[in-house]
Amino acid sequence: MKHFIQFENRTLAEQLIEQALKYKVDPRKHISKGLGKRVGCIFLNPSLRTRASTQIAALNLGMEPIIMNMDKEGWALEMQEGAIMNKTTVEHIKDAAAVLGTYFDVLAIRAFPTLTNKEEDLEDFVLNQFKKYSNVPIISLESAVRHPLQSLADMITIQENSKAIKKPKVVLTWAPHIKAIPHAVANSFAEWAVGCGHDLTITHPEGYDLDPQFTQGAVIELDQKKALENADFVYVKNWSVFNDYGKIHSTDPSWMLTESHFKNAPEAKIMHCLPVRRNVELSDEILDGPRSLVQKQAENRIYAAQAVLSKIIE
Ligand code: CP
Repeated sequence: MKHFIQFENRTLAEQLIEQALKYKVDPRKHISKGLGKRVGCIFLNPSLRTRASTQIAALNLGMEPIIMNMDKEGWALEMQEGAIMNKTTVEHIKDAAAVLGTYFDVLAIRAFPTLTNKEEDLEDFVLNQFKKYSNVPIISLESAVRHPLQSLADMITIQENSKAIKKPKVVLTWAPHIKAIPHAVANSFAEWAVGCGHDLTITHPEGYDLDPQFTQGAVIELDQKKALENADFVYVKNWSVFNDYGKIHSTDPSWMLTESHFKNAPEAKIMHCLPVRRNVELSDEILDGPRSLVQKQAENRIYAAQAVLSKIIE
């Protein structure tokens, strides 16, 4: 595995899940594996879980993680090829990426979408610029279109909590939000859930279809009540409109899950990648109740990142 930027195949996903679960039992079992290696974690956007969990994962392998918050600490990056840099940007991404590639054995990048330039976002332009100019393995810490470390942690969490269920019914449901939110978590979750062989239903208000390249193999059901019937796992996430790119067409509060939504799915567990807008996306009663797996998902971010780093430095 050279890079970790998307779902590749089921065999690799299962290997990573298995390795992550071993690290969860014994986090320092490979404490010498990464000695002498450095991972640069480059954040162009804010983070809590991804930042801390990737750092802990590297330390568990004996690697040295160095975090750079480019949004606050770095030079303003110019992204456009051939730009005349006489305005606010100070350093071109091709220079920054090439320099960072000489400092680190692995680069991990967080670069959110613009939600205004659809073409550039769909190309995963910023992540790919780092890949092109750094010449070292790249790990996505959430890009314009995918969040694979989150999805790997989500697959680990489903596996841990579905021991008695042969083929769990997994539902990805849209939830209301006050801001325009990227599609990366939803895209990636759909890609990984189908890729790992889960029975996935996606439910959202009319017009909120995700990019079809990520939803092949999933059932699309616009009636949330029907979608939730007999669900084993319900993944809650907002995303903005894809076709009318980055816009908000609905904030319908009836899509926010409360206990009353689970009459026909009494055993369903709830998942969310966090951060969550309480009582907008999900009710307190769900988040603080026995259905919630959100803290387990966040904990599993460590072991997902550790399995990925371990594979990449092999
Ligand atoms: N779920 C997730 O990626 O959290 P952060 O944005 O806090 O890293």
